[in-house]
Amino acid sequence: DADTDLLIVGSGFFGLTIAERAATQLGLKATIIERRGHIGGNAYSEIDPETGIEYHKYGAHLFHTSNERVWEYVNQFTSFTNYQHRVYATHNGEVFPLPINLGTVNQFFRAAYGPDEARALIAEQAQELGGKEPENLEEKAISLIGRPLYEAFIKGYTAKQWQTAPTKLSPEIITRLPVRYTYDNHYFKDTHEGLPVDGYTPWLERMADHPNIEVRLNTDFFDESQPLNKTAMAGKVPIVYTGPIDRYFDHTLGALSWRTLDFEKEVKPTGDFQGCAVMNYSDEDVPFTRIHEFRHFHPERDYQTEKTLIMREYSRFAGGGDEPYYPVNTPEDREKLEGYRKLAEAEPNVLFGGRLGTYKYLDMHMAIGSALSRFDNVVRGWFA
Ligand code: FAD
Ligand code: NA
Repeated sequence: DADTDLLIVGSGFFGLTIAERAATQLGLKATIIERRGHIGGNAYSEIDPETGIEYHKYGAHLFHTSNERVWEYVNQFTSFTNYQHRVYATHNGEVFPLPINLGTVNQFFRAAYGPDEARALIAEQAQELGGKEPENLEEKAISLIGRPLYEAFIKGYTAKQWQTAPTKLSPEIITRLPVRYTYDNHYFKDTHEGLPVDGYTPWLERMADHPNIEVRLNTDFFDESQPLNKTAMAGKVPIVYTGPIDRYFDHTLGALSWRTLDFEKEVKPTGDFQGCAVMNYSDEDVPFTRIHEFRHFHPERDYQTEKTLIMREYSRFAGGGDEPYYPVNTPEDREKLEGYRKLAEAEPNVLFGGRLGTYKYLDMHMAIGSALSRFDNVVRGWFA
């Protein structure tokens, strides 16, 4: 049954890119096994049956990149709309534009500052701690943007994201908090941005649409009752593993910690609920972090206007059965990761890739870019 040249565990962008390259560039037979009942990892989307609106099942996914190689590669499988991402925040009963920009600053301080005045004001407010080295996230944020903007836009949101007071979080979580001293609130700064014209899933499926690629859904690498399991496949063919690195080694060095998200979908009886794709909720008395309204990702589509689909997002620490979304990355996690990397190096015929296999947050373009270069640097070598 192991009639394959290459076994790929996980059908996210990393695994799909490796499979596609192996099939088209080296003529190899690649088998992808996927634990879930669908292809595509967290980028998967589907049509909500009640409204006909495409929604991103694992949270809103915006494609953007400045990597020309990645841009050229992805355009083989889909074309992109000219969608530009913008985010707003509700704070204290008022809506502000994000990321924090001159419009946010002037609305918040009821002022008409020019860029130089706004810059001077924020620099002065950021001096509150004097030269003191920030000891927690709150102090770090204040040292970057001052207390008033921190308390309005960062404090409550961060506390909800981490279920932890920012005074108890590491200052390292934030390295930059850029304020834009223009009115530009276009969220991403990359050369290329857009959403796949006919949705994420057709793009993901096209990547696997090759006679040499087989995808087996509902198939867990650690399930010994399916033939392509870890024990049965050890040493048989090279393996690209994109599941959690700690799980591969049976958590022998302890479990790496993750944050997860809970999503709550709701159909509202109106053609437009919030007037934008993503509304953040900055304050702690609102339990969710943001609301996505998916129709706004595709203004070019002819969606019905009787109803709209919204999704509230809640953030918390992941337990054993939860989907791992964002690495927590504590000092203990980094130490465990070092150990797992050593174990991984001792397995020359297994490539650990993607966000779970490397315990790193990767945007889609990063997962694809990483797969393209590791295909060249590792996979080609296996078959040379
Ligand atoms: P994944 O997509 O996670 O794929 C890994 C796959 O492996 C999964 O399908 C999983 O089921 C499977 N698997 C795991 N263990 C096993 C096993 N034992 N057996 C079989 N299969 C297994 N990126 C952007 O560019 N823009 C965004 O706006 C954006 N938003 C995001 C929002 C959220 C909430 C999250 C979590 C991520 C977001 N990303 C975004 C990142 C994007 O999802 C990742 O870049 C992409 O999913 C990485 O692909 P991957 O293949 O590494 O991992
Ligand atoms: Na196929």
